[in-house]
Amino acid sequence: MLILENCIGNGAVRECYIHPFDKSKCVKVLSSSKDYRILKREIKYYPYIQAILGDFIVEYENELVQTNKGLGLVCELLRDDNDELSKPISSYKMDKELKTELDFFVYNLIQHDLFFYDFNLKNFVVQIKNGEKKLKFIDLKSFESNKSWSFLKMEILIPQLARTIMIRRIKRLYQMLGIELFQVSGNPTKNQWSKIK
Ligand SMILES: Nc1ncnc2c1ncn2[C@@H]1O[C@H](COP(=O)(O)OP(=O)(O)OP(=O)(O)O)[C@@H](O)[C@H]1O
Ligand SMILES: [Mg+2]
Repeated sequence: MLILENCIGNGAVRECYIHPFDKSKCVKVLSSSKDYRILKREIKYYPYIQAILGDFIVEYENELVQTNKGLGLVCELLRDDNDELSKPISSYKMDKELKTELDFFVYNLIQHDLFFYDFNLKNFVVQIKNGEKKLKFIDLKSFESNKSWSFLKMEILIPQLARTIMIRRIKRLYQMLGIELFQVSGNPTKNQWSKIK
């Protein structure tokens, strides 16, 4: 059983600890609930999401582990080049480099009908890797799961409704960051995308 001691962050649902035997990993446990379906669901959808979002998300192990704080989910812990913990997006100025990352992340969600609903700023961490800023979306709980009230949860059945709700929340995210939402047509690859921006 893992004994978790070094808490590096928490949200409304989970506490995140440095893995006691591997400082490159993070163990997430539930703060108050015992509903482990929350953690299992994230592991279940990880391969599907990873195939589309690639490096925009961290790596996950595919089994929950026993810890002194209940079952935990193990994933990559984000550290910068200097080995310090990576910081949330709110710690950085939204420069062109970071905006391009965010735009391409959002573009992929829309392009692939990958519906997330929770874009709170704490779910975005920026990793400095080889001197470059890399955007990481570290919380996959809201994949196809819209916690707030919506008409009979119809977005599960109607992609257009899901798209509308997600884009509304993306607009709110851009507003919070004080940046403009992009407009694109066509289907640029990542390299072409960098040139467009
Ligand atoms: N893989 C990671 N690497 C570095 N820091 C992380 C990682 N995962 C989470 N964190 C930090 O821990 C915080 C909480 O993580 P997380 O979003 O998974 O918790 P949560 O309770 O599920 O969130 P919410 O409040 O959105 O429901 C994040 O905001 C971030 O600062
Ligand atoms: Mg979160």
